[in-house]
Amino acid sequence: MEQSIEMVLPNPRVVSFQHGIQIALPLENPGEIKDMSMISTQKTIAEWVLDHSECASVFQRHHIDFCCRGHLTVDEACDQKGLNPKTILEDLNRAIAERQGGPSVDYRTLSTVALIAHIIQTHHEYLRKTLPFLRPLASKVARVHGDTNANLHELELIVFELVETLLPHLDAEEQELFPLLMTKNPDKSLVDSQFTLMAEDHLLVGELLARMRKTTNQFRLPQAACNSYRTLFSELEQLEGDILRHVHLENHVLMPRFVSTSTPLSH
Ligand SMILES: [Fe+2]
Ligand SMILES: [Fe+2]
Repeated sequence: MEQSIEMVLPNPRVVSFQHGIQIALPLENPGEIKDMSMISTQKTIAEWVLDHSECASVFQRHHIDFCCRGHLTVDEACDQKGLNPKTILEDLNRAIAERQGGPSVDYRTLSTVALIAHIIQTHHEYLRKTLPFLRPLASKVARVHGDTNANLHELELIVFELVETLLPHLDAEEQELFPLLMTKNPDKSLVDSQFTLMAEDHLLVGELLARMRKTTNQFRLPQAACNSYRTLFSELEQLEGDILRHVHLENHVLMPRFVSTSTPLSH
């Protein structure tokens, strides 16, 4: 079936893909918002992370998805989750104030080649190393502890599905999408269809991460958890954080360079 990407109105900074996937485009000039009260109410979650990467861990801690639902403002996300936006804004501002080691990297300033190299070397390599190790670990923990916690069998299936989705996804990006983006004049319809496939995979992965968090009860361990159990939960929480950052870069930094906000993209 033919894939297509369509612009959504009226918010000119949000692109809508098939199946209801929405991705926020960053401000063309991050300095265009100067009024701090406007920042706290109108800035999207994706923009918070783009401007200050340390905000990613705040959103992860509060279970706010900044990659596939990054088009929401803090107020909107809090409204959906029953959280107090004032608390989140305080945590965001504290994380920014407490940041050490100089300003965070602004990935928007990287060239496309450098950005893709960073995504592959940092996030794809991490997944290629971690996923094959997590799969048998999830099976072992389900086998040993599944009698006392049936959710571990569900968790095993989620980990399997993550592996089955992510490994081919990495291959497709490295072998098809990324080389296409690095050509001088990439074919627009091909770019659109590749980004549609990418966004569909991202949405599926986001749903699996949400299920993983729910199934593990926010990665809470029972007191008697053995080392394998502890290692699995700790690794899965790290995996969640890394995937959120990874997908955020692809959805909110890489993709907007190739998807125009002024021209409809359906074809
Ligand atoms: Fe990727
Ligand atoms: Fe991706």
